[in-house]
Amino acid sequence: MLVIEHLHKSFPTAQGPLQVLRGVDLTLARGSSLALMGESGSGKSTLLHLVAGLDRADSGRILIDGEPLHGHGESALARWRREGIGLVFQQYNLISSLDVAANLAFQARLAKRHDPQWLAYLAEHLGLAALMDRYPEQLSGGQQQRVAIGRALASRPELLLADEPTGSLDEASSDEVLALLLQLVGEAGSSVLMVTHSPRLAACLQHRCVLHQGQVQGA
Ligand SMILES: Nc1ncnc2c1ncn2[C@@H]1O[C@H](COP(=O)(O)OP(=O)(O)O)[C@@H](O)[C@H]1O
Ligand SMILES: [Mg+2]
Repeated sequence: MLVIEHLHKSFPTAQGPLQVLRGVDLTLARGSSLALMGESGSGKSTLLHLVAGLDRADSGRILIDGEPLHGHGESALARWRREGIGLVFQQYNLISSLDVAANLAFQARLAKRHDPQWLAYLAEHLGLAALMDRYPEQLSGGQQQRVAIGRALASRPELLLADEPTGSLDEASSDEVLALLLQLVGEAGSSVLMVTHSPRLAACLQHRCVLHQGQVQGA
C-alpha cells in the first residue's frame, strides 16, 4: 500500500543544507508491519512526517495504493491526514480538556467514521472502559498511551504511524502496550510503520529496516 521512491529531504541550517534523507526507498504491503530503526538524529521522525503529509520532500515520491501523495492537491492531502493515517507519538498528545471518551472518539469523528461499537471494543481491550470520564492528567503514562492508540485506531486508518510509541514507558508496560497495539492494528485492518530504538520491540513486527546515512537498509 505504501511505496517510497528515492526520497530526499534536507533542512536549511546556518552551515548550509543538512541532508537528512538521501534517497530513501521503502515498501510496506497492506496489513503488514514494519519497524524503522536507526540512531538518534538519523531522520526517522522526518520520514514519518513526510509519510503523514505533514511536511514535503525535496524530491522523490510517496505512493499510497499507487497514487502519489502530492499528486491530487491540498484537499486530497488533508483527507489523507484526516482519514488515511493514525498517529501515535512518544508524548501521548492527548487533548487535556477532553475526557477519555472524547479523546478516543476525536479522530474518528473528524474522519466521519465514528463507530460506537468499535470504540467500545477498543476501550475494553485497552483496559479503558472504567476510565472513560477521566481526564488525561488523571491517568498514568501507560494509560495515556493506550488512549492515544485507541484514538489513532478508532477511525480504522489505512496506515498507523507510530514514533517511539512506548519510548516513555518502562519495559514491562512497553511490551504490554505494543502487544495490544499490534493485536488491535490487525483487527482494524491497518498497516503499521513504527519507529523504535529497541531491537526487542522491533522483533515483534513482521519486518525491520534501518535508516543509516540517509538511506534505508533492509526493506
Ligand atoms: N525542522 C527542522 N529543521 C532543521 N533541522 C531539523 C528539522 N527537523 C529535524 N531536523 C534535523 O534532522 C535530523 C534528523 O532528525 P529526526 O528526523 O528528528 O531524527 P530521529 O527521529 O531519527 O532522531 C537531525 O539532525 C535534526 O536536528
Ligand atoms: Mg525521532
